[in-house]
Amino acid sequence: MGVDVQLKGVMKRYPNGIEAVRGVDLTFPKGQVAVVLGPSGAGKSTLLRMVNGLETATSGTIQVGDLVVHSNNHRAVRKTVGMVFQQFNLVPRLSVMANVLCGRLAHRSWVTSIFFTFPESDFALAREALKQVGLEDRAWDRLEKLSGGQQQRVAIARVLVQQAKVILADEPVASLDPETSIEVLKLLVSSARSREATLILNLHQVDLAMQFADRIVGIRKGQVLFDGKPSDWTDTTYAQVYQ
Ligand SMILES: Nc1ncnc2c1ncn2[C@@H]1O[C@H](COP(=O)(O)OP(=O)(O)OP(=O)(O)O)[C@@H](O)[C@H]1O
Ligand SMILES: [Mg+2]
Repeated sequence: MGVDVQLKGVMKRYPNGIEAVRGVDLTFPKGQVAVVLGPSGAGKSTLLRMVNGLETATSGTIQVGDLVVHSNNHRAVRKTVGMVFQQFNLVPRLSVMANVLCGRLAHRSWVTSIFFTFPESDFALAREALKQVGLEDRAWDRLEKLSGGQQQRVAIARVLVQQAKVILADEPVASLDPETSIEVLKLLVSSARSREATLILNLHQVDLAMQFADRIVGIRKGQVLFDGKPSDWTDTTYAQVYQ
């Protein structure tokens, strides 16, 4: 069950004076698969990180369903918004299962976080998610024994058990080979679609964006230069966004 993500007049100025995002208005309807494209430094990561509260907007508002994202409601936001990173952000020395269970922490008490004891229902969710990403037989391997593509699938299983209504992915395939990239993206997109989660992806590869997106948002220097269907993206658009 997805929710809408709404950004209104969003600006981000870092303490060093850099204006990474300069007035962005965007609404991502629930269940949409949107890809954000743009050159290095355009503000793509900053934009995503503000949606789950990893960065705070300097001005403007960000709303995820009914929830307005603030610097003091991280926990509520983490229940709704899941994130997949380029460098996986997993714990190498823990088992695959333990890494996936981390996706349940936002739903559990501090006691669970400290003693890392989860109810059987959480293990059941984790086994189901591992099955969905094709890694059920690797549950008790140490994460570091898995390949990059497999590790990213573990990260996908983690957002699945989080039961996130919104999934953010910041260049989730940037460190994978082309073939694995396509496999992982297929899995990410189908996982999001199977639960009507809203998916917002930052990508560097325009061809992959064309293949997987319902909608493309092209940004440059912190501003939206293109917002439309993949079929409306032309060579001219490419030049405008990446010039
Ligand atoms: N924590 C930070 N402190 C100061 N400036 C930052 C910080 N993070 C990013 N920036 C600056 O903000 C701008 C936008 O960066 P951002 O990482 O959002 O771009 P990006 O589009 O994700 O780039 P890339 O494609 O290289 O990942 C850049 O000029 C960057 O140097
Ligand atoms: Mg980035």
